[in-house]
Amino acid sequence: MEHGSMEGKTVIVTGANSGIGRATTAAIVKLGGRVIMACRDHGLALEAAREIVQETGAEQSQVSVKHLDLASLASVRAFCHEVIQTESRLDVLINNAGVYQCPLTRTQDGFELQFGVNHLGHFLLTHLLLELLRRSAPSRVVVVSSRLYKRGTIDFSDLNSERSYDRAAAYARSKLANLLFCGELARRLQGSGVTANALTPGMVNTNLGRHVAVPALARPLAALLARGLLRTPEQGAQTSVFLAVSPEVAGVTGKCYADCKPQVLLDRASDPDLAGKLWDISEVMVGITT
Ligand SMILES: NC(=O)c1ccc[n+]([C@@H]2O[C@H](COP(=O)([O-])OP(=O)(O)OC[C@H]3O[C@@H](n4cnc5c(N)ncnc54)[C@H](OP(=O)(O)O)[C@@H]3O)[C@@H](O)[C@H]2O)c1
Repeated sequence: MEHGSMEGKTVIVTGANSGIGRATTAAIVKLGGRVIMACRDHGLALEAAREIVQETGAEQSQVSVKHLDLASLASVRAFCHEVIQTESRLDVLINNAGVYQCPLTRTQDGFELQFGVNHLGHFLLTHLLLELLRRSAPSRVVVVSSRLYKRGTIDFSDLNSERSYDRAAAYARSKLANLLFCGELARRLQGSGVTANALTPGMVNTNLGRHVAVPALARPLAALLARGLLRTPEQGAQTSVFLAVSPEVAGVTGKCYADCKPQVLLDRASDPDLAGKLWDISEVMVGITT
């Protein structure tokens, strides 16, 4: 797999302090890129940034930390405002942050947390950064989805889990929404020089399972199995890095990759009518008026 140099390029990675996002950040700075780590916990992010600089031998200036809580539309707006004020270009936006199978929780704006963070927060983030991405073309948007999208459905009559909540179904729905969003974004960006591709990283040993209860006695065995059976964060980050940097996918758009290869999606993940409808409703939900 050939990777281009990332020297002079600016990349935003959401959820960059942990798991796949952290490994993606480290790989991009190793290639000479500069990464803005968009994270909700400033202390954890600073610590991760310090470690990444130490591990990779990168320049301090290649890694910066900015606060972004995707569970707050005000925070998304403040983050984008700051980026637009301070950055002259944005070459790659990696929508990586995610929450998995949490108990029913609401974002600051009242959205179910998994749909709110995994889909709506990133939807608004991308919308607000699009002008900067367009000005920086050729540029790329990379969306981290999951194979679990296959279990997802978009129920427009209860998008916000007001009537019922199933934590696994809500995660699957949010990851299906990621794919529909990415496909629609790619269609809307045709000819702009900004590409949008998604990926599924496989099963990766990260902090994602924090809300999945494992009995205390079984935890050491579970950790051992996870280390043996799951991908490392570095392995899990490979397709994110490929889509962000590889010359092989320059100009490629609207696809979903796994193991650095394009995948065929289920019809409902690539249905333009469904994607268009979700886009329109998402705009209303996050208060986009243009
Ligand atoms: N691990 C897997 O097997 C797997 C499989 C398929 C897809 N994925 C996808 O891969 C992506 C990365 O997950 P991971 O496995 O690396 O998990 P992880 O280690 O838990 O990392 C998730 C990141 O998202 C951040 N995040 C969560 N809520 C946020 C919010 N409200 N605002 C901003 N950031 C927030 C977390 O921040 P904190 O550290 O502060 O919580 C963390 O940095 C997710 O989109 C996930 O759905 C993972």
